[in-house]
Amino acid sequence: MSKLRPTGEATPRTDPLVPGADALSGRLRRAPENFLTPDEIGQVGKGRRDFLRASFLAAAGATAMATLGGSAAAAAAPADAAGDPDILNPTPWGSSLGQPVAANPYGLPSKHERGLVRRQSPGLTQVAAASVSFTPLQGLFGIITPSGLHFERHHQGWQDIDPTRHRLMINGSRPEFVKTPRVYTMDDIMRLPPVSRMHFIECGANTGMEWGNVAVPTVQYTHGMLSCSEFTGVPLRTLLEYCGADLKAAKFVLAEGGDGSSMTRTIPIELVLSGEVMVAYGQNGEMLRPENGYPLRLVVPGVQGVSWVKWLRRIEVGDRPYAAKDEAVHYIDLMPDGQHRQYSSIQECKSVITSPSGGQTLLDKGYFTINGLAWSGRGAIKRVDVSVDGGINWTQATLQTPVLSKCLTRFTLPWNWDGRPALLQSRAVDETGFVQPAYGQLRTVRGTRSIYHNNAIQTWQVAESGDVNNVQIL
Ligand code: MTE
Repeated sequence: MSKLRPTGEATPRTDPLVPGADALSGRLRRAPENFLTPDEIGQVGKGRRDFLRASFLAAAGATAMATLGGSAAAAAAPADAAGDPDILNPTPWGSSLGQPVAANPYGLPSKHERGLVRRQSPGLTQVAAASVSFTPLQGLFGIITPSGLHFERHHQGWQDIDPTRHRLMINGSRPEFVKTPRVYTMDDIMRLPPVSRMHFIECGANTGMEWGNVAVPTVQYTHGMLSCSEFTGVPLRTLLEYCGADLKAAKFVLAEGGDGSSMTRTIPIELVLSGEVMVAYGQNGEMLRPENGYPLRLVVPGVQGVSWVKWLRRIEVGDRPYAAKDEAVHYIDLMPDGQHRQYSSIQECKSVITSPSGGQTLLDKGYFTINGLAWSGRGAIKRVDVSVDGGINWTQATLQTPVLSKCLTRFTLPWNWDGRPALLQSRAVDETGFVQPAYGQLRTVRGTRSIYHNNAIQTWQVAESGDVNNVQIL
């Protein structure tokens, strides 16, 4: 910026990417943290869920305005008419001694960022130990999810297991499948040559509340059962080879968790043979967080989160699917004809605009960067198109590097909001050519009563007031 911005007016700057756009004019108010008041959450606790939708509809219109108080114009007004005191006056932080090193032996985010936390959706589940907390996608940059903001899904609460007492057993369902069944300690596993890879994990139920209609107001709740980390561990294939597994006779492995939920999932052997399935202890450069399976979890790139068994204690090699409870009666897709589809594990190509997104408010017209995430369980993202008119016209977005297989990809598109209502959508295409479907297309095949694998195109409606709301376009 060549000169200080005089108060009351923005310095006009033409953005080279959007002809005519004033890069300093558009401003955005953050989404509300929760869409229900503590009172309403109390009602949900008492079992009253019926009013949730009505609350949401009211919230969609009103909460954003109420969050910070005051009108949009007041919130948008820049500094004081006499000059910006934050430039003209000495600051406390520039004229005092700062905190000593190691004041926080384990570093924490700034206190100014304390609103950016994972949150439980009020009313989704009755018991917090068998529930979900959602990643605040609207506030994140790039593709890596900070470990403390990784979503959580536990069926029977999380445990902080003593790693010296944790064991991983590898055996066969018949003796000939594994010549030398073994029990590994964490020390045994961590001695082996490690691999590190970046992958997304998405719960199969992500966006599951939206099958029938809009249900929740912000991207944290619509898409926040999604995270992405650099995982470190040992390929499962390597461990199976050490144990003398017959990888020709084997067709499946069973992965079993050490928590009280009896979480067991069947994994097709082809995924293991590809070398991608990993027995992981590392997450973003440090040990896994207890909530995410410390000290050992299975990483199954591209596959829904439930197969990423946490607190992994046993792998059995076999020749048929195990029909465990979490694949025979749960994590199945209810189809329009009333039948269920089982073993539909892959998370198909999907994307979402994370900003501007539901609950946020555009405080004035002008330049915004449309920002979002795309991913596919079948490989790398090839392109993402963005529409600001509900899918009539599409513009190709820029993909930020790195663009990796089975990993989140960040996309951006410059946008000059002219103040008129807009419908923001993103549509991803992966390297197999799969195109993310519209709601109408998905419902034709899958109906509206499913829970899992909703990868439809998300629409955010920008109203003339600047409020951004969750809507659906067929
Ligand atoms: N593994 C065990 N042992 N117990 C569990 O409850 N939840 C599964 C999976 N692995 C679960 C588990 C489900 S449904 C999901 S979506 C992912 O873990 C969530 O992983 P996260 O909590 O690290 O995000």
